[in-house]
Amino acid sequence: MDPLPEGWLWGTATAAYQIEGAVAEDGRGPSIWDAFTAEPGRVKNGDTGDVACDHYHRWPEDVALMADLGVNAYRFSVAWPRIQPDGRGPGNAKGLDFYDRLVDALAERDIAPVVTLYHWDLPQTLQDDGGWMNRDTAHRLAEYAGIVADRLGDRVAAWITLNEPFVHMTEGYGIGTHAPGEALLLDALPAAHHMLLGHGLTVPVLRERSSAPIGLTNNYSPVWPASDAPADRAAAAAFDVLQNRLFTDPVLLGRLPDTSAYGIAADELPFVRDGDLAAIAAPIDRLGVNYYSPTRVRAPGGTGPDGAGGSVLSEVGGHIEDAGLPFEDVPIDGHPLTAFGWPVVPDGLHELLTGLRDTYGDRLPPILVTENGCSAPDDDPGRRDQDRIDYLDGHLRAVHRAIGDGVDVRGYFVWSLLDNFEWAEGYAQRFGLVHVDFATGARTPKASYHWFRERLARYR
Ligand code: NOJ
Repeated sequence: MDPLPEGWLWGTATAAYQIEGAVAEDGRGPSIWDAFTAEPGRVKNGDTGDVACDHYHRWPEDVALMADLGVNAYRFSVAWPRIQPDGRGPGNAKGLDFYDRLVDALAERDIAPVVTLYHWDLPQTLQDDGGWMNRDTAHRLAEYAGIVADRLGDRVAAWITLNEPFVHMTEGYGIGTHAPGEALLLDALPAAHHMLLGHGLTVPVLRERSSAPIGLTNNYSPVWPASDAPADRAAAAAFDVLQNRLFTDPVLLGRLPDTSAYGIAADELPFVRDGDLAAIAAPIDRLGVNYYSPTRVRAPGGTGPDGAGGSVLSEVGGHIEDAGLPFEDVPIDGHPLTAFGWPVVPDGLHELLTGLRDTYGDRLPPILVTENGCSAPDDDPGRRDQDRIDYLDGHLRAVHRAIGDGVDVRGYFVWSLLDNFEWAEGYAQRFGLVHVDFATGARTPKASYHWFRERLARYR
């Protein structure tokens, strides 16, 4: 394979609620995911993050696993409710100490910490005041970010303000399949705006305290029309606005995309105040890209097989079918499917990376692929795991091709280091390079871990 850019980051990624457990320890306050998982019927098998991978206690082992793997970076998230149990006010010393120790241990192993500030675990007290539907939450994010940066800012290698605001808005506030479980459909739009505003207000706070590059992470999906018919193409453009452009145009271009397909005049949104877009467009240094699969859509009421594509849409099945939206999900045929049922389309990552470059040109900062990976069945940990190896190999080749085609990509993070709490799926979907026995906490590297280790060794 061709050489990679200087300073390339090879990493694995995780998120606090998905791995840490210890939800009531050392002063951590409750988050919306604690409340959501406590409600019967919300999560498959009634699973919760109460213990998860018990990373809060077993983190030295996890750092050792990464060191042995040979990565030079680790993307993890800080749990806001460990830092501010009520979502406001001074930092909780024990919570800060935990991440301080982790960051130091990573540095000892030459692993650069890439810190996500918000990976969906909002303090419940802020939700009690409306959560992301409340504009004040944007200010709270910036305050919390300042506390984290005061403590870790001298050692963090890169900051990610938000993780996947599209999914958080859609599943958390639009249809309620994720915490906080609101089903507001398009009325959830203020949540998107307030998250982006929170991002924009956070950028200068981090800048003042740290010289590390700053970005946000979106999950991008190339959107394919089911046919060349104008109505299907319009449906694809509409979905592209919702998933991709709504969370990128404001940040990189300082304006909202054309939302007319939704009957929404973007310049008349009451929750967008003067100055907001300028704040949101604060210059960033990296764009975090999470990629799993493309999405195929058709015009509403189209014919043919019904949804089972790879997008958030397919995960939520019929939830939004009757919502009068200008698209419908259709399956992507002719590709292998992951255990989750998502189509495996490595070329989609190349299409996405070159597409971002073509769309945003010199406004596009260098990209970090902050997540890519797949879930695979739990039938033979440590032995075959060939599906995950093929998935990663194909997608890494796609990244190489995009770099060869001139896209400025600076790193790649596998989702995930460990099998973990996969949100509404609980522990049913296993994304880890390392198998976790959730009854004992035992970690067992899978064949994909050994494969990735060997791949990384070639670059040293
Ligand atoms: C993206 C999310 O950031 C992460 O939390 C999730 O586990 C993976 N996708 C897999 O669904």
